[in-house]
Amino acid sequence: QQADIGLIGLGVMGANLALNIAENGYRVAVFNRTVEKTHAFHQEAGALKDKIIPCETLEELAKNIRAPRPIILMVKAGDAVDEQIAALKPFLAKEDIIIDAGNANFHDTVRRLKELGANDPTFVGMGVSGGEEGARHGPSIMVGGTPESYARIEPVLTAISAKYEGESCAALLGPDGAGHFVKTIHNGIEYADMQMIAEIYGILRDGLGLSPAEIGKIFDKWNKGPLNSYLIEITAKVLAATDKETGKPAVEIIVDSAGQKGTGRWAAIEAQMLGIPATGIEAAVAARSISALGGERAKAAKAYASLGTPKLAGTDQSFIDALEQGLLAGKIAAYAQGFAVMAGASTEHGWNIPLDTTAKIWRAGCIIRSQFLDEIASAFTGGSQDNLLLAPSFVERMKTASTALRDVVAKAALAGLPTPALAAALSYFDGYRQARGTANLIQAQRDFFGAHGFKRVDKEGDFHGPWSDVS
Ligand code: 6PG
Repeated sequence: QQADIGLIGLGVMGANLALNIAENGYRVAVFNRTVEKTHAFHQEAGALKDKIIPCETLEELAKNIRAPRPIILMVKAGDAVDEQIAALKPFLAKEDIIIDAGNANFHDTVRRLKELGANDPTFVGMGVSGGEEGARHGPSIMVGGTPESYARIEPVLTAISAKYEGESCAALLGPDGAGHFVKTIHNGIEYADMQMIAEIYGILRDGLGLSPAEIGKIFDKWNKGPLNSYLIEITAKVLAATDKETGKPAVEIIVDSAGQKGTGRWAAIEAQMLGIPATGIEAAVAARSISALGGERAKAAKAYASLGTPKLAGTDQSFIDALEQGLLAGKIAAYAQGFAVMAGASTEHGWNIPLDTTAKIWRAGCIIRSQFLDEIASAFTGGSQDNLLLAPSFVERMKTASTALRDVVAKAALAGLPTPALAAALSYFDGYRQARGTANLIQAQRDFFGAHGFKRVDKEGDFHGPWSDVS
């Protein structure tokens, strides 16, 4: 009996996705560059062995899948995807679908689709989030492609996806690069979320002098409130863990230098290219870069040792509550930015990304899953593309939460504790709610030195200033 679907690349994500597919009753033909890995995977599949067809060559893989064949690629993003498509193409027909499920740059997805000719298989760019666990038991799946190709893969994607109150967390979000673009922004938001959590941890650790276990308890408590989310939940768990070798809290033996594979950076770059402010995401990416400057930071710490980092004064439970509300406010602003970038890209590329559906399929399965995303989905109901900060429910929330964020950022600044993402979120909020900003001065300067012209508040047209009159 032939397989319903194929999967190439049995790394952590690919292997778990294949098991997930098999567990949901679909037969899956699998291929990996190293043949031993393919057989080892099959041998270890236990009860799911019968649903898995191990293939040693791409030709064998193609033969073992019922036409028209859907084939998932779960290989390293970048050149490996192009190589795999080229190697696979000779064995496929026009009706087949190659589905790139890696963390591809959406520009590559658009290019790959263009490069495939009229007689080549169709191409689908699919963002998958949820890490190892998600891949195995239900990820969030963000698809970019044609409605026809989606209709063909929808049953299996629906089956393997995470469910939020019974609703599948897989959806078609637009044509060509839309799915991978949404995944990129998901990762940008993930960076911002993680950075803001780390900043709050820094305030609790360095400003208040709390131990990891104590901080863990605070996050655990917050996980029962409006901040309830996977990232807060694992933060509490991580802070409670003990290093087996030393008996010290696990977080204390980890080097403070964050890795990054590029998707967060892409999110910031795309926001910049679109001219849409995503300062929370940008700050988070930059903070990872600063974290990587360990040697320089050690030198600077010595050079500025006399400035110290004073402990925060007057911090009681009400300040801990302010940290909770402040984190929520920062999160709202960062998500508002991420969704604004998706709305902007959607217009720019004619993608029609449904923001409500995007929020819905992030409610379960993915790394940023949370109860909060259900509120975001409601705010975008009816096809609204307005900034989240203008949605009535969030206006109410921000009225109180922004005051807490201000308190947190101000106290941290006075103590010399860095809060780049929280501060960026606050400044974005304050700039966004300012009916008359300060760019009139920038326009005057631009006109002064470059005769760039400006608009007047009192009449239509382009004008120049009386700069030559001033000596
Ligand atoms: C997910 C994650 C996953 C990974 C990102 C970010 O949604 O499952 O986003 O894709 O965490 O690639 O990785 P880095 O932090 O290494 O950039």
